[in-house]
Amino acid sequence: MKKLMITLAAGVALSAISSMSAQSAEKMTLYCSAQEDWCQLMAKGFEEFSGIKVNMTRKSSGETFAQIKAESANPKGDVWWGGTGDPHLQAAEEGLTEPYVTSMRGELNSWAISQAKSADDKTIGIYSGALGYGYNTELMKKNNLPEPKCWKDLLKPEYKGHVQMANPNSSGTAYTTLATIVQLFGEDEGFEFMKGLHKNINNYTKSGSAPIKAAARGENTIGIVFMHDAVKQAVSGFPIKVVAPCEGTGYEIGSMSLIKGGRNLDNGKKFYDWALTADVQSRALEVKAFQVMSNKGAKSSPSAPDLSTIKLIDYDFKKYGSSAERKRLLKKWDDEVKVLPQ
Ligand code: G6P
Repeated sequence: MKKLMITLAAGVALSAISSMSAQSAEKMTLYCSAQEDWCQLMAKGFEEFSGIKVNMTRKSSGETFAQIKAESANPKGDVWWGGTGDPHLQAAEEGLTEPYVTSMRGELNSWAISQAKSADDKTIGIYSGALGYGYNTELMKKNNLPEPKCWKDLLKPEYKGHVQMANPNSSGTAYTTLATIVQLFGEDEGFEFMKGLHKNINNYTKSGSAPIKAAARGENTIGIVFMHDAVKQAVSGFPIKVVAPCEGTGYEIGSMSLIKGGRNLDNGKKFYDWALTADVQSRALEVKAFQVMSNKGAKSSPSAPDLSTIKLIDYDFKKYGSSAERKRLLKKWDDEVKVLPQ
């Protein structure tokens, strides 16, 4: 009887210990706005490195911003990794993210640090890439279409139904497109451009890279995307040609932020530092993510677009990442462009 009691007591103690360790198992929640395959690589890579369980969701940049804002009274995420910098800057301005000065700063390119400085250390640059478009060369030939080289070429009536871009409300890529066109041509002419483009658009997708994936599959002809997203399809063997528009183009500083009030912020900080290391950033090449990485020691690929040869505008991140300007431009696009018949 005594022996049985001891065994039972030991059993109870053991199960108490194991349920305690299950409860305290290290975990964190990652909101990811880069490509799905890269998001998965980052989540798995961090789990292997740290033993911390990562609960990852991929959503576009504008959607993730909206989710973090909606959850701000009861935050569910810890780290927001990837996606265009503008909504990260807006989140910083609206007090949705947490300041953090990483020990990795000394290894980063200056553009990554200036992103942090302009947001009181509430965000930081992790990669950069130029906007452009790509097209399916076989569909162009089949439809007897001229090969476009400039932004303004995309307004030609023969491209009606052949152009796809994402919706700038959900997608950071598409917001970068809207802000780039406004900066290149001025606001009035820029909105006239967006209205003209609207006539040729066959679909506004939710995610930024969807238009070039559709072009790779032969379901769309021209996709307005970051050039590195078009390169990814080309090097994967699809008939995609990548264009750096002749008038010049905008670019993104893909960013990372810690979510204010996150429940696992210490683990989030570990992820943040780890994600900025050269080794981790070099792994982007495994999933053909051809952005320029923020760590100066990260490897790059000869296939990656060479930003020094592309005519880049002096994209005003402070202005176009501000809460008032992003809201204003998106509303104006909804009211004046999206509603027009096609
Ligand atoms: C792709 C690009 C990233 C970019 C992201 C934005 O994943 O490779 O460089 O930051 O799109 O996504 P979104 O869906 O918000 O346009």
